[in-house]
Amino acid sequence: MKRVTKAVFPVAGLGSRFLPATKASPKEMMPIVDKPLIQYAVEEAVAAGMTDLVFITGRSKRAIEDHFDKAYELETELEMRGKADLLKIVRDTVPSHVNCIYIRQAEALGLGHAVLCAASVVGDEPFAVLLADDLLDSLGGSPVMQQMAEVYNYHRCSVLGVMNVPREQTRQYGIVSTERDSGEVQRVSGIVEKPKPEEAPSTQAVIGRYILTGRIFDHLRQLEPGAGGELQLTDAIASLLKEEAVLAYQFRGVRYDCGSKLGYLQATVELGLKHPEVGEEFGAFLASRV
Ligand code: UTP
Repeated sequence: MKRVTKAVFPVAGLGSRFLPATKASPKEMMPIVDKPLIQYAVEEAVAAGMTDLVFITGRSKRAIEDHFDKAYELETELEMRGKADLLKIVRDTVPSHVNCIYIRQAEALGLGHAVLCAASVVGDEPFAVLLADDLLDSLGGSPVMQQMAEVYNYHRCSVLGVMNVPREQTRQYGIVSTERDSGEVQRVSGIVEKPKPEEAPSTQAVIGRYILTGRIFDHLRQLEPGAGGELQLTDAIASLLKEEAVLAYQFRGVRYDCGSKLGYLQATVELGLKHPEVGEEFGAFLASRV
């Protein structure tokens, strides 16, 4: 039985909501406490058994390649100074059995276009897509991508990570309609990008975790620009739905939208409180502030 081993990380967006921080360095390298967002996403994919990591990069994204590469000078320096624990942190950014592949998206034409850039590497296999600015805390349970890989292995069709959002926020998400309105795994009957609250078919929003079959590439190739003039992955999924089953999976965990300032600060507080080194003192500091 073919398992999902390829994961695509679209990291070519402009990150305009975080300017000027993202003027010269990627949004995905912003840290939550001491680890960049992209590393949280990579660890989630590796925990789910992915071994080929395909990064769709763009302008000013070199730092991501450097982060997952060997850092000879730094490693030598740390070795000379006997800093074994720091050396391990530096070496463990990605395990040695994992391949990192970088593909350049010359223009930020949308998430659908970014995913299409991975077609030649992925071929017609099922693959995962992880948006690193959605940070998922599985609260001690299995990492969310692992939960989704289990759903894929059982049903053998595309799986979208979804969560319920307040109706007034539907405009920020792809929204699915499903055949039933409850249950952890449901069959998707429709999907629409950024609907107005009064037009949204439900309040189940797609977050930045997908497992897609290779058929999605044919639908991406035929896409016309959608919402915001961009090639939308949601529109290709709407088209895929006409020929294959697609499932919505209500994941177990909490999602932080680290592409927004508020979500980023919330993630920093929550993960800061859990951090083994600073959590306790940080908690005392927060308590003194409220
Ligand atoms: P966003 O909608 O968050 O866009 O993209 P953005 O450009 O990163 O951020 P803002 O809105 O300007 O602040 C969702 C995901 O899709 C990727 C982004 O890197 C992000 O992970 N993306 C988006 C691409 O890789 N290429 C694109 O052309 C567009």
